[in-house]
Amino acid sequence: MDVLGPTTRLDDPLAPYLAVDRSRPAGPCWVLANMVGGLDGSAAIGGRVAALSTKPDAALFLAMRTVADVVLVGAETIRREGYGPLLLPKVRAQARRDAGKPSSPRLAVVSRSLDLDWAGRAFTDPALDQPPYVITCAAADPQRLARAREAAEVVVAGDERVEPGLALQELATRGASVVLTEGGPTLLGEIVAGGHLDELLLTLSPLMGGDPLPVAIAPTGAPLSGFALRTVLAEGNTLFLRYERGEVPSHEQ
Ligand SMILES: NC(=O)c1ccc[n+]([C@@H]2O[C@H](COP(=O)([O-])OP(=O)(O)OC[C@H]3O[C@@H](n4cnc5c(N)ncnc54)[C@H](OP(=O)(O)O)[C@@H]3O)[C@@H](O)[C@H]2O)c1
Repeated sequence: MDVLGPTTRLDDPLAPYLAVDRSRPAGPCWVLANMVGGLDGSAAIGGRVAALSTKPDAALFLAMRTVADVVLVGAETIRREGYGPLLLPKVRAQARRDAGKPSSPRLAVVSRSLDLDWAGRAFTDPALDQPPYVITCAAADPQRLARAREAAEVVVAGDERVEPGLALQELATRGASVVLTEGGPTLLGEIVAGGHLDELLLTLSPLMGGDPLPVAIAPTGAPLSGFALRTVLAEGNTLFLRYERGEVPSHEQ
């Protein structure tokens, strides 16, 4: 057991995350997830994240999009949280352009029902420089599929449901090297179960009593996945944990 030692103040909280080598993903692209949970593991309060996220978490959550080519989100999160264009602060956007990337990452929404607000800012905001992806399956309703194609670039990745592995392959084929998923728990659980998660950023928010919704919902029969702790940061009472893919611990450890 180690007591964490003297701390060093960071000028830029994003710096340790920008320094991560994401060039060797397990699959076709590096997949990282950024989630916040309460001390009881709850992933929402009253069906939303806002009251769970502290000020430093909210700031890092937005800044983290800097590292992503695509931000991948489940449809229920879009419906509940409402998403707009994924705009970054000017200095971060410029750094991306300097590196030959678009100034902001592209949104990708996973949905079978295609019951999405096509008039919402995620699809219509004038600040969007590229249309979002909508990732769906062949069983999607043809009329809704036609409507989706008017608002987004549609990617079909699976028959009855979206296969996360196929979806990631399709995103990689379209040039994505780093895919950041912002949840929700259902989508994250499927990504983890498929063995696709390379990196997990988990913020522990200093409260309990939120919704009975874990940060990731494992599909029935999913295997265990192990992770290795890489970075621990703190700001006030908020703890930021960074893990990478690792081994499932044995009973001896
Ligand atoms: N704490 C956090 O960091 C965090 C982050 C994000 C969200 N949240 C919270 O989590 C809640 C929403 O999460 P959730 O788990 O209910 O939903 P979710 O994962 O955001 O979205 C689930 C939906 O995504 C689509 N989907 C997921 N996997 C699919 C597949 N394999 N094939 C086809 N479609 C698929 C389906 O959309 P259709 O129904 O359209 O078919 C499904 O209903 C909200 O309360 C939100 O506030 C918390």
